[in-house]
Amino acid sequence: MKGPPTAGRGVATRLRTAKGRSTASQKWLERQLNDPYVRAAQAAGYRSRAAFKLVEIDDRVRLLRPGARVVDLGAAPGGWTQVALQRIGPAGRVVALDLLAMDPLPGAILLQGDFQEAAAEQAVRAALAGQADLVLSDMAPNTTGHNATDHLRIMALAELALDFALKVLAPGGGFVAKVFQGGSEKGLLDLLKRHFAAVRHVKPPASRKGSSELYVVATGFRPAG
Ligand SMILES: C[S@@+](CC[C@H](N)C(=O)[O-])C[C@H]1O[C@@H](n2cnc3c(N)ncnc32)[C@H](O)[C@@H]1O
Repeated sequence: MKGPPTAGRGVATRLRTAKGRSTASQKWLERQLNDPYVRAAQAAGYRSRAAFKLVEIDDRVRLLRPGARVVDLGAAPGGWTQVALQRIGPAGRVVALDLLAMDPLPGAILLQGDFQEAAAEQAVRAALAGQADLVLSDMAPNTTGHNATDHLRIMALAELALDFALKVLAPGGGFVAKVFQGGSEKGLLDLLKRHFAAVRHVKPPASRKGSSELYVVATGFRPAG
């Protein structure tokens, strides 16, 4: 599927009964019901609206090539994994990891674990059995509501993902990670620029406007950088 979905535009759903619901969960539910990406994800059989973020990133910067070997970190419930599988085709390989268990997806190797632990990284490397062409990280910790803390935690996960990517990527490979608005931190950006031919920040249309989420997209991996 290409471009932003338009399904069900124009008819806003209001919840009649808020009995027993907190204002926050009521708002969340209303937003979900009125979100065209949520509806389009359901129509397309994607497990999450997040799937469209990868669709949009990949439509802009061609990353998911047929036969590619892809690592998907922070993969649950599996939207990005589904998009990756569709685009790389049967000759490719996807190794997906999350703290949470995921329902099986034919063609993907699904692992459960905390990527902050060495055992999880080892499990991904074992499943990959070689180099990767693309390392994706949509990892995000549960937000605390305290911006500075959330920022630090998400950047720590992005750094961990990059550290891993530098070890497993094949020359010419790509890297995508969720970061926070304001761009990547200097250390992360310096490292990316040293090791990749091109580095850009992408805010896919499917990423909610109010959120400070952003993706750093790096292509053309240079091992010796
Ligand atoms: C935004 S969701 C990913 C959505 C997914 N890309 C999709 O399309 O369905 C972020 C995920 O990161 C995972 N996560 C956060 N910290 C992690 C960690 N340390 N190790 C592995 N997964 C982690 C969370 O469990 C959560 O499922």
